[in-house]
Amino acid sequence: MADKKRVAILFSGRGSNMIALLKAMKSPDFGATPAILITDNPKAEGIENAGMWGFECHVIDGASYKDNDSFDIELDKVLQSARVDVVCLAGFMRILGADIVDKWVGRILNIHPSLLPKYKGLNTHKRAIEEGETWTGVSVHFVNKIVDGGPVLGRKKVKIKKNDTKESLEKRVLPKEHELYPLILKKILDGSLDLKNGKTIFDT
Ligand code: GRF
Repeated sequence: MADKKRVAILFSGRGSNMIALLKAMKSPDFGATPAILITDNPKAEGIENAGMWGFECHVIDGASYKDNDSFDIELDKVLQSARVDVVCLAGFMRILGADIVDKWVGRILNIHPSLLPKYKGLNTHKRAIEEGETWTGVSVHFVNKIVDGGPVLGRKKVKIKKNDTKESLEKRVLPKEHELYPLILKKILDGSLDLKNGKTIFDT
C-alpha cells in the first residue's frame, strides 16, 4: 500500500468522533494514520478518552491567544510540523479564519449534526424538532470560509420520532456520526469520492 496519509484530528469536548476515527485508522487497509490530536480546550474530556486509546493530545489553549488570527497561526505551525496531510474537525468549536482555511482548503473536513445545508450552526437537534422536521441526520463536508457551508461529501439520515427531545435525538444521531466520518475519510483517501459540480455525492 502507498504511504498512509497523515491525519490531524481537532476537537474541543468529549471527542467521541475523534475516537471513531482513531479506531478506523487502526485497520491496516485504511489509507491514513493519526499524525496529531489537537484540542483548543485544556479541560476537554476527549484528552482523557484519547489517553485510554494510548494517544497524547496537543493542547493549543484558545483562551491564551489574544485573537483568532494568532491562534490560527500557531495551529498552522503545529499542523505543518506534524507533516499533516488531512485535517478532520471533530467537535472543534472554534471558527477558523479565512487565511488558515485558504491554506488547507480541500484537505480539511468537518462533521456536522444535521442534514446540511439545513441547520448550519449550533443547537441543530432542538431546531429541527421545533421546525417539525421528519428527518434529520449528519453530514461530513469540506471546510470553506462559510461556517458549515462547504461542499457536502456525505450524509446519513435519522428519522425524528414524535416524542423526541434533543437528547433522545442526539443519542440516535451520534452513532451515525461515528459511522459516517471514517467512511467518508476512507472514500476521500481511496479517491472514490469526487465532487460533482461541488455537490453531495454520497447519501445513505
Ligand atoms: C458532534 O455532534 C459533532 O457533530 C458536533 O459536535 C459534536 C461533538 O461530539 N460538531 P464529540 O466531541 O465528537 O463526541
